[in-house]
Amino acid sequence: MRSLIDIFDLSVEEVNGLLDTADDIIANPAKYSTACHGKKIATLFFEPSTRTRLSFEAAMIELGGNVLGFEAGGNSSSSKGESVADTARVVSCYADIIAMRHPLAGSAYVASKNASIPVINAGDGSHSHPTQTLADLCTIRRHKGKFDGLTVGFCGDLKYGRTVHSLIQALSRYTGIKIVLISPKELKLPEYVKYETIKANGMEYYETESMTEVIGDLDVLYMTRIQHERFASEEEYLRLKDSYVLDMAKMEGAKSDLIVLHPLPRVNEISTAVDKDPRACYFEQVLNAKYMRMALILKLLAEKDTEMPETDAEYREDLTCDNKGCIVTTEQELPHLFRKGADGKYRCLYCEHRD
Ligand code: NCD
Repeated sequence: MRSLIDIFDLSVEEVNGLLDTADDIIANPAKYSTACHGKKIATLFFEPSTRTRLSFEAAMIELGGNVLGFEAGGNSSSSKGESVADTARVVSCYADIIAMRHPLAGSAYVASKNASIPVINAGDGSHSHPTQTLADLCTIRRHKGKFDGLTVGFCGDLKYGRTVHSLIQALSRYTGIKIVLISPKELKLPEYVKYETIKANGMEYYETESMTEVIGDLDVLYMTRIQHERFASEEEYLRLKDSYVLDMAKMEGAKSDLIVLHPLPRVNEISTAVDKDPRACYFEQVLNAKYMRMALILKLLAEKDTEMPETDAEYREDLTCDNKGCIVTTEQELPHLFRKGADGKYRCLYCEHRD
């Protein structure tokens, strides 16, 4: 069964193919209007969402298919204690494809191992969000015409921002990309992304706490929200929540062909005055997300019988993942699967945290 759990489930050629399909959908929408006639997508959202859920649903409707699902875990049997594995098995009886968002890292992987239909990860905790990445890539390519050689800045909550992790992973497969990481020290990129993606691929990178220091160097600025819901301490959130605000004064120091992206929702990290600047691309990104999700649904349904490669993780009874945000904390009897990282340490297969 073909699923999309993290961006590495798609080769670079496949990502480029999806970008081409999205361009074609944008140019010829009528050609695709019955492509999924008789098919159903189940949107299983255990966490809040506006764009991701509605764009999956709009995508399926525009392909001529139908939609079912729930928009809050409290409205599903998970509130009675049903596991992700059982939910995935059950929903496989009703739908042709699942898009699932869940607060725990590794949840989409567990769903994919138990579903008999393709599963799309629509965000698993602070881990990954590969379909937002497809939207980000689409927006970058439509403006810059390429990925190679770009200087891409990520600003805000790089620790909990799953869209950041997935986009850095995607960019690691192009050449000459320079990553600029702008965050308070408390919200730095998790070390698994730094080791397994940036360092392991020899990507050039620079870390700073100052946006003004680097804004003039950037081709792409990816702003993010401070992820309130993932903080253990309200006090720490309140201290960090206004760390960065992109306003017109800062934009004056940026290149004239910078593009500003944001996965949204925005809280206050981009002043609304910036919305009128032609370099602000975050609302266009929302629309591109729908086209990329249409392209993805088409691909996964067409290739649903393609087997995913078996995981290369090791079963290690002696190791236990202690990440409270990992699916192992709630799901029964999950095998202890670990993968040896580039730094020689074992990382949990589900959430990629270190033992
Ligand atoms: C993001 C998410 O859910 O991770 N939103 C989205 O899907 N567009 C970003 C966020 O919530 O800050």
